[in-house]
Amino acid sequence: MKITDNTLFLEDIPVETLMQEYGSPLYVYEESVLRSQFRQLSSGFPEGLLEIHYAMKANSNPSLLKILCEEGSSIDAVSEFEVRLALESGFKPQQIIFTGNNNSLAEIEFCVENDVPVNLGSLASLEKYGERYPHTKVSVRINPGIGAGHHAHCITGGPDSKFGIYHDQIDSVLALANKYSLSLNGVHSHIGTGIFSAEPMLEAMEMILAVAEKFPDLEFVDFGGGFGIPYRPEQQALDMMDLSQKMTRYFTEFRQNYGRGLTMKIEPGKLLLGPVGILLTTVTNISDTPKHRFVGVDSGFNHLVRPTMYGSYHKILNASRNSGVEEDVVVVGYICESGDIFSRTDEKIKRRLTSPKIGERLAFLDAGAYGISMSSQYNLRPRPAEVLVHNGQSRLIRRAETFEDLTQCFVDFD
Ligand SMILES: Cc1ncc(COP(=O)(O)O)c(C=O)c1O
Repeated sequence: MKITDNTLFLEDIPVETLMQEYGSPLYVYEESVLRSQFRQLSSGFPEGLLEIHYAMKANSNPSLLKILCEEGSSIDAVSEFEVRLALESGFKPQQIIFTGNNNSLAEIEFCVENDVPVNLGSLASLEKYGERYPHTKVSVRINPGIGAGHHAHCITGGPDSKFGIYHDQIDSVLALANKYSLSLNGVHSHIGTGIFSAEPMLEAMEMILAVAEKFPDLEFVDFGGGFGIPYRPEQQALDMMDLSQKMTRYFTEFRQNYGRGLTMKIEPGKLLLGPVGILLTTVTNISDTPKHRFVGVDSGFNHLVRPTMYGSYHKILNASRNSGVEEDVVVVGYICESGDIFSRTDEKIKRRLTSPKIGERLAFLDAGAYGISMSSQYNLRPRPAEVLVHNGQSRLIRRAETFEDLTQCFVDFD
């Protein structure tokens, strides 16, 4: 992404060209950013130690999955359909790990029938699994009692979290494994998403490794995802080089004591995909009240829910005119709810922008993760198209939805 002559270019293509060709709104992904995010992350760890399982919930477009597959990524999947899509996008069953929660036995059966490793997050599911598949290998998700994340909804460890088997219940895990002759080949944890400091991650890692010592048949330990990216200009990026060195040190020490060549797994979503995607929109309306200037665009929380759902910050650029007179505006969407505010954060709703005009394009940055994948058809609004750009070329990787797409599941409707 670069700004030249006051306008935004994505892999050398002017935003205006993309909007003219594919319409507005539009999700655009930069292939070279995706490849470099993956390569940079891998380069922090010694060869052969780490397996990166991309958390495909962040963005499950198969064209992006295929790029990550080429780069050597594996997959973290959380539903049967994610597993199916990963398989159809070229991942081998053993490259996938299925970590459901409160899932049905049918989902587990699908995975087992397709040779996809299963990771279980409760004693009840371990019991059910053991009854159905005794004498097999399975891994377990442990709640290390520590959680972290950018919002309460995103903390997935600690006593308030529904995820995983609490770390004080390991004896019950081992008893069930014994009862059904299960080989517990992996220990997993994921403490939250949008984490900006190494401390909680390393603390959770120590806790998990202390638990892992009690499991004699391990082949891997999986520390989940959660690595934060700097959405705000003033935000300090998580120092991944430093964190990866520390994780490597903790893990290699553990491996030496454990006495077996274990693999370390991580499951990044946001770190790999967040900086890759941009949501492009068009200004459709400007209106004033005594308190605010509202700038309306042809998109809404149906396409990018993070600001409304978590008060999350996404940088907003006037992609048609990056410099000039600036003003404080409230950037809003076309959904019939007052909470449909792109510029909102927990602290304020206004943002300083190059004074937008009707017809100009606004870009929402770092929207590649949890953008389209959390989108909806609320207000009977279609999802936008998705485009991949690379070296001055663009390619449609998902068409925009139509009226027919939105109505095809209704029964009393022709
Ligand atoms: C089990 C699991 N692994 C990995 C992730 C990815 O998290 P992030 O996108 O913050 O890296 C999630 C996200 O919620 C998750 O639930």
